[in-house]
Amino acid sequence: MLVLGIESSCDECSVALVEEGRRIRSNIVLSQVESHAVFQGVVPEIASRMHTESILPVYRAALAEAKVSPEEIEGVAVTSRPGLTGSLVVGLTFAKAVAFSLRVPYVAVDHILSHIYAPQLDTPIEYPHLTLLVSGGHSIIGEVEAFDRFTVLGTTIDDACGEAFDKVATHLGVGYPGGVQIDRLARKGDPAAYRFPIPKLAKGNHRYDLSYSGLKTAVLHQLDQFHVDGKGSSLEDVAASFEKAAVDMLLLRLMRAVNDTGIHRVVAAGGVAANSYLRARLAAETGLEVYVPPLELCTDNAAMVAGLGYHYLMRGESSGYDEGVRARVPRFRHSYP
Ligand code: KG4
Ligand code: ZN
Repeated sequence: MLVLGIESSCDECSVALVEEGRRIRSNIVLSQVESHAVFQGVVPEIASRMHTESILPVYRAALAEAKVSPEEIEGVAVTSRPGLTGSLVVGLTFAKAVAFSLRVPYVAVDHILSHIYAPQLDTPIEYPHLTLLVSGGHSIIGEVEAFDRFTVLGTTIDDACGEAFDKVATHLGVGYPGGVQIDRLARKGDPAAYRFPIPKLAKGNHRYDLSYSGLKTAVLHQLDQFHVDGKGSSLEDVAASFEKAAVDMLLLRLMRAVNDTGIHRVVAAGGVAANSYLRARLAAETGLEVYVPPLELCTDNAAMVAGLGYHYLMRGESSGYDEGVRARVPRFRHSYP
């Protein structure tokens, strides 16, 4: 089955064509990052307007690259939750229009589940497996039972991991989005230059939870001091030390989950999984069977949407034309969705 995937949940407008849930025929991603950079963050109104302008050309580019005519599309999959409401509406409405005009089924899928599915496009991975899903909006350690279901073991109690990368980068004055810049700077720095705190979260039911707000504040204080007394370390050292603390925290909680569940198969996903230090640390961790998708499948893309949607469509499940978007997914703490 040839599935058309559509992704517009945030600031990437993407359309893909994927066969049998795995073979990527095309995966066009148009990033709006330059339009939001001046604001140091995604501006929802700008994002949705830009999706409106770009969805049709991106769709045409995906068809052209795959050398496919619209009549060959057998099903449509689209992100409908969670994300920016106005941006999601553009993708969902477009998906309904394509499906209606071609008389094929369409299915509205979850963005988190698509990120978790992304590595399956590269290589088949057996269930159950653990997931380390770290992006600009989410930081989740979960046990994945199937393509459509997982149990959240831990999540952030405050900021998301990617958000911390972005905020630290903003304060370092190295540009937006920050993850890539921190990654680049940190390669030239000393990760032992500063010892930043990793919260223990010992109280309550937080065994696998994460917290990035304290780490971010500690880095900002350090930067203030650095600028005040102007001696010693460099931005590269701050970036490397922050990155080490951020990744140490992820691995500490992840290894806890590995030991408690006895599941050694680990899949990293989401934008922060593009981080070269995290990828190296995961690869060096012995006793783990680690899967990390190629960089272009870590960040938002429509191939993961088409890949995931294929499985619902094959089960005969599709969405109705009354389907709406959801900015948030409720009851997130335990089982998902
Ligand atoms: O998955 P994604 O594209 O969008 C969301 O759904 O959030 O993730 C974007 C996040 C941003 O916070 C970005 O700074 C971070 O992923 N990111 C990175 C790297 N590349 C992207 N963080 C650390 N190192 C990277 N190389
Ligand atoms: Zn995402």
